[in-house]
Amino acid sequence: MGKKSLVVYFSCGGTTELAGKELAGALKCDFHPLEAQETYTREDLDWKNPQSRSSVEMQDEKARPSYKKLPVDLKDYEQIFLGFPIWWGIEPRIIDHFIEQEDLKGKEVIPFATSGGSTIDKAQDRLEEKYGQGLTLLKGHRFNRNLERQEIEDWLQILSH
Ligand SMILES: Cc1cc2nc3c(=O)[nH]c(=O)nc-3n(C[C@H](O)[C@H](O)[C@H](O)COP(=O)(O)O)c2cc1C
Repeated sequence: MGKKSLVVYFSCGGTTELAGKELAGALKCDFHPLEAQETYTREDLDWKNPQSRSSVEMQDEKARPSYKKLPVDLKDYEQIFLGFPIWWGIEPRIIDHFIEQEDLKGKEVIPFATSGGSTIDKAQDRLEEKYGQGLTLLKGHRFNRNLERQEIEDWLQILSH
């Protein structure tokens, strides 16, 4: 695509990390994890428990979990691929926080996600509604666990048109 790209991914169980690394491999670009300041434990991720940290955050539209500053300057990139697991049908609140905190104006932001089955559509709609004015948000893609390089190549091909 000829643009300087960066892949940033939030991943608690490694699936989104895997997708992010494959994507960065296909793009031959830099990648970095977006790490929560306070790592999510297994209990934190228990969606069956309404009191778990992830449940409490996802029930609170305003929750903005802190994250560790990335060791790169986003100014150096024109295109940010932003990966996350689908939580409760949408993007985890830490992703909202990242988009709100960082200066992404003038950049292309391209979401990608992994999930147990949910599509990325609801997250995509939310992100467009909340942040679509300030940044250029392209159509994202959801990968499943058995992602193949061809799926990435096909998506990148679509994006480049
Ligand atoms: C708190 C929580 C909520 C989740 N909610 C959904 C959901 O609504 N739909 C879905 O398909 N998968 C859901 N999942 C499954 C994850 O999206 C899926 O396992 C994802 O690939 C995990 O990515 P990771 O290994 O990078 O953390 C949820 C997982 C967690 C921990």
